Amino acid sequence: MPELSKRTAGFTDSVIRRMTRIANKYNAVNLSQGFPDFDPPQELKDALKTVAGGSLHQYAITWGAQNFREALARKQSKFMGTEIDPETQIVVTCGSTEAMIAAMLTVVNPGDKVVVFSPFYENYGADAILSGAEPIYVHLNPPHFNFDVEELEAAFKQHPKALILCNPSNPSGKVFSRAELQIIADFAIKYDTFVITDEVYEHIVYEPYEHVYFASLPGVADRTISCSSLSKTYSITGWRLGYAIAPPRITENIRKVHDFLTVGAAAPLQEAAVTALNFGDDYYRDLQAHYAAKRDFFLQGLKKLGLKHTVPQGAYYIMADISEFGVTDDLKFCEWLAQEIGVAAVPCSSFFKNNVNHLIRFHFAKNIETLAEALKRLERLQSIARPEW
Ligand SMILES: Cc1ncc(COP(=O)(O)O)c(C=O)c1O
Repeated sequence: MPELSKRTAGFTDSVIRRMTRIANKYNAVNLSQGFPDFDPPQELKDALKTVAGGSLHQYAITWGAQNFREALARKQSKFMGTEIDPETQIVVTCGSTEAMIAAMLTVVNPGDKVVVFSPFYENYGADAILSGAEPIYVHLNPPHFNFDVEELEAAFKQHPKALILCNPSNPSGKVFSRAELQIIADFAIKYDTFVITDEVYEHIVYEPYEHVYFASLPGVADRTISCSSLSKTYSITGWRLGYAIAPPRITENIRKVHDFLTVGAAAPLQEAAVTALNFGDDYYRDLQAHYAAKRDFFLQGLKKLGLKHTVPQGAYYIMADISEFGVTDDLKFCEWLAQEIGVAAVPCSSFFKNNVNHLIRFHFAKNIETLAEALKRLERLQSIARPEW
């Protein structure tokens, strides 16, 4: 048999999504892959029911249904503070996942360098391999996950084609301040670099932190591709609706890549989601309060358990330190945790370039009862006999 492509040898399947399969196998409380166990707003489910009974069951326009793009442009123009043209600046994709790889394929030539902050969301490693990019990692340093300006400039001096900015950030929970974003913006202009943002947690930010859209900073909109999605904001990760927003010259090319990758996102789901895009400001305020309550509940529980952990400024992840258990292989630890304790987490080695084995990631986008059950199960961590790792 002929060999398979070298491209696919460079990465494994997603460990995040593998952990969900492991959670299902052992009936563990799944705090690994970030998705809610609660429903989206009822209005949204009703809208889907109505659309399902109608006649929108064929392809939408490849770069997104007119109705959806117009509603998205209205919403994002308001939040981003800049006028977005639905005709020339939006590509509707299958989640931010597709928006990110389409953006990478649009700006990167094989061999080009791309700056990635570490820890990083797992997909960016695979995106880099698929697009032929060579990542330059810049550390985000705990506890506040700030970057070192000299280290960042050293990365820019290697003439990267793009920088990937996950803000709010998964897994660290970092929310980049305006001042930090300005430093990145100044370098992007000085070294003539694109910035590809992943802002899927734009509406999940905890006080006193605030989300600042990178594209809204002065002078960078023409080199920024803003990717995001409806997955997290409206609790519809399964609908697979995302988008890239960029200047027309870039959008035109992302549309070509997107057209041949997937043709388009699901037409009936785009139509139903217009309902969500038209929600008023109170929806976003309630969402913040909803997640703040979950975060506080889960943090308190971890504190009681005596597990050291990060405190997220945004998004819905916590990294817990498992050094005390003498673990040398965090993947094995997470498999054991799912099987023996009944809680699924993600081994953080998936999020770092260097060899990190002492952190695991929990998410708290779950009902309080689910989080309480997970915390109860985790109480056994101290007393249960543990294997030699
Ligand atoms: C940073 C980040 N980007 C993208 C995604 C995936 O988003 P989507 O469902 O829009 O593809 C996730 C999901 O966990 C994420 O954490």
